[in-house]
Amino acid sequence: MDEIELIKQKLNIVDLIQEYLPLKKSGVNFKANCPFHTEKTPSFMVSPERQIWHCFGGCQKGGDIFKFLMEKEGLEFKDALEILAKKAGVSLKRKKTGKKDFRDRLFEANLKAQELFGYILNKHPLGKNALDYLKKRGLKKESIEKFGIGYAPNSWDTLTKFLLKRGFSISEIINSGLGVASKDFCYDRFRARITFPLIDQKDRLIGFSGRVLYPQEPKYINTPQTPIFDKSSYLFGINLSKNEIRNKKEAILVEGEMDMIMSYQEGVQNIVATKGTALTEGQLELLKKYTETINLCFDMDLAGDSAARRGIEIADRLGLDIKVTTIADEKDAAELNRNNSDAWKKAVQDAAPIYDYYLHSTAKRFNLKNPSDFKKVAQELIPVWAKITDDFVREHYIQKLAAFLKIEEKLLRQLVNKQRKFDGKISFIKISASAGKKDDGIKSGKTRREMLEEYLIALLLHIPEDHNFVPSFPETLFLEERWKQIYVMLVLYLDSIFFKMASFNINEFVSTLPKDLAQEVDRLYLTELDSKLADKKDWQKEFETVITELKKSLIRASLERLTLEIKNAQEFGKIESLEKLNRRFRDLSVKLKNL
Ligand code: GTP
Ligand code: MN
Repeated sequence: MDEIELIKQKLNIVDLIQEYLPLKKSGVNFKANCPFHTEKTPSFMVSPERQIWHCFGGCQKGGDIFKFLMEKEGLEFKDALEILAKKAGVSLKRKKTGKKDFRDRLFEANLKAQELFGYILNKHPLGKNALDYLKKRGLKKESIEKFGIGYAPNSWDTLTKFLLKRGFSISEIINSGLGVASKDFCYDRFRARITFPLIDQKDRLIGFSGRVLYPQEPKYINTPQTPIFDKSSYLFGINLSKNEIRNKKEAILVEGEMDMIMSYQEGVQNIVATKGTALTEGQLELLKKYTETINLCFDMDLAGDSAARRGIEIADRLGLDIKVTTIADEKDAAELNRNNSDAWKKAVQDAAPIYDYYLHSTAKRFNLKNPSDFKKVAQELIPVWAKITDDFVREHYIQKLAAFLKIEEKLLRQLVNKQRKFDGKISFIKISASAGKKDDGIKSGKTRREMLEEYLIALLLHIPEDHNFVPSFPETLFLEERWKQIYVMLVLYLDSIFFKMASFNINEFVSTLPKDLAQEVDRLYLTELDSKLADKKDWQKEFETVITELKKSLIRASLERLTLEIKNAQEFGKIESLEKLNRRFRDLSVKLKNL
């Protein structure tokens, strides 16, 4: 057994967490208000059997004792390890530190490169054009210094030679991304480009981006993925803006480095740049450490662009408030800040809530003189409106959209509510520990069917102790592959303990699973089910209801497909298959009714 397992075995997660907050028993688990985000109903669950915790509310964090201490005290893993080892009376063997040194060397190489780039931009004749260019774009001397902007000369080996002379090896130069490996050597990645240091929230110089001076493609290049640069969770400028984001309780997001720098220079400093990529979960999670509100100012149409919409859905799922800043055509934030920074300040202040933005930008794409286009606007927006969690906000936008489309509020309200039902508002179940908030499913972006499948697994993991039950429905009732797999393993396990007359042991069951499935089971084992489900009869009734609902949903999906096929057959006059399809439709409809 390794040190980590040994420590976990000697310490009890319930005791450790109880040093920080009171835990209340809830079924086989314990619960509390989550210490990592504010909430009124407890959704933070702890399992003494599995020695894990998970928050089913806004923050969705979870893990073992180490993770808890890291989150609670803001520690790195190795510090949490040391503290808990001491607590458990386990002595740690000294780990080889080779890996850490290796990463440190890459940070150092970047710092040295910045020294050279900065020198060339500010002091060397080779940097003069670049300096002029930056001034022309409105950058002040202080900003150039503050952001550590530099210039990489038009040369294949200036930086490589510079770093070699200072003791860095070729492999370090390549691993840092500063050099590109070639047949028998390496050459400078950044050539004839203005360089922007990419610094993370812990003030570490993890990479560079480089912009050309003259129109040329690609306009920007970046350090590739390296042992110290993870593009997917990086935001440009976060090192300088994180405090102001916290103060202003809002993060403005722009696309470009220049947009961020110019806004910062002109005094709007709660800002970061995504560097032109669609918003990722990693970036949003990083921002969530500092604020609950994001204000997007992007060039593209956020409602029309599917990658952007996906990013917004992630933000919504993470519980972030979303606003949108729009600025007059043909200008980006950088240009606006150079010409009229007051207009930028006003634009940012006047940011519209995302739903107002959706309404206007969707409307812009249609010709509203045409009645059938009204329908298209409604079709696009009803699913979005249905996802609005807050009742007042949703009602507000129903009224707004109805007025806009000149239709009766009542009709629109019905349509939105229908969509909400369809989306998976499951009134008879408590899918997660934060139950009571009925919109959980909607917020998480899961369909009703997906929630039902998950809930069924959660239910099966909580079969009442005195209920010797082995389910026998076919695994094809699950559409989701992982639930199928877990279900199959669970039936095998239940069968074996039934045979041995042993009782359900979650650790025993989890040990039969591969790691990714074990994680899913852990999460679902921690869900808080309605307390009445501890009763055999109630449990069985609930189980049957869920099975019926799942069957219904499968049939409904088939009926929908059939409807399309029937339409198709009608259009092309395929009488024979039309008859067959109609018969099938009738059979399924009867089956649905009889369920
Ligand atoms: P400036 O002209 O310097 O103001 O750039 P911009 O911000 O106006 O550029 P644009 O809107 O085209 O792109 C926004 C951001 O996307 C840039 O700041 C870069 O971070 C990134 N980007 C732009 N062009 C490229 C490219 O060719 N390759 C890569 N990897 N990123 C790019
Ligand atoms: Mn720009």
